[in-house]
Amino acid sequence: MSNPFRIGILGSGKGSNFVAIADAIAAGKVPAQIAIVLSDVETAGILAHARERNIAAQYIPPGPFRTKLGEEAERAFVSALRVADVDLIVLAGFMRVLKGDFLRAFENRIINIHPSLLPSFPGLESWKQALDHGVKVTGCTVHFVDAGVDAGPIIGQQTVPVLDNDTLESLHQRIHAAEHQLYPECIAAIARGETSIIGRRVIWRKK
Ligand code: GAR
Repeated sequence: MSNPFRIGILGSGKGSNFVAIADAIAAGKVPAQIAIVLSDVETAGILAHARERNIAAQYIPPGPFRTKLGEEAERAFVSALRVADVDLIVLAGFMRVLKGDFLRAFENRIINIHPSLLPSFPGLESWKQALDHGVKVTGCTVHFVDAGVDAGPIIGQQTVPVLDNDTLESLHQRIHAAEHQLYPECIAAIARGETSIIGRRVIWRKK
C-alpha cells in the first residue's frame, strides 16, 4: 500500500480499545497505520501500551477545565494531529468533550465509541444506566463526533444482552469485549472508503 490510511488515537484511560485496534491492524484486518496516540492523562495506560508498540505517544496537559480542553491544549492537540498527518481521529475512552475549533479542523473525521446503544444512555457509566433502567439489551455504538455529546451519525452498533445475574462489572466487561470487535470493523470500513454520511445515516457499501 503506497499511502496507508493514518489514524490518530486519543484516550484518557486503560487503552483496551487501543490494544484491540493495534492488534487488528497487526493481524491485517484494518488497512491503517496508527500515526500517533495522544492523552490528557499523563499516567494513562493507553500511552504505555502505545510506547510498548513503538508508536509515537504524547501527553498533552488539558488545561484548567474538567470536561473540556483549555484553548492552549486544544491548539496543541490539533497541531500534533496535523503534524502526524492523520486521516481519521479515533476517540478511545477520551473523556473530554471536543468543541468548535477542534471539530472544524477535522470535520467528519472524528469518531468515538460509547458503551451503550445510543441514543439510549449517553454520558457517564452507561452500563450502570442500563442496569438501573432494567433494559434487557444494551451494547456499544461507534459514531461520528459532532457538537453534541454522544450524538453524531451512527456508524455501527453491537448488542449485548443484559443477564439476570449481571453485576455492574460483568455487564461492563461484556460491553468492553463487544467494543473490541466493533471498533476495528468500523475503522476498517472507513479506511477502505466504504462508508458515506447521508444526513444522520452512515451507509456502508462494500468495495
Ligand atoms: C470504553 O468503554 C469507551 O466506550 C468509553 O471509555 C472506555 C475506554 O476503555 N468511552 C466513553 O464512555 C466515551 N463517552 P479503554 O481505555 O479500555 O479503551
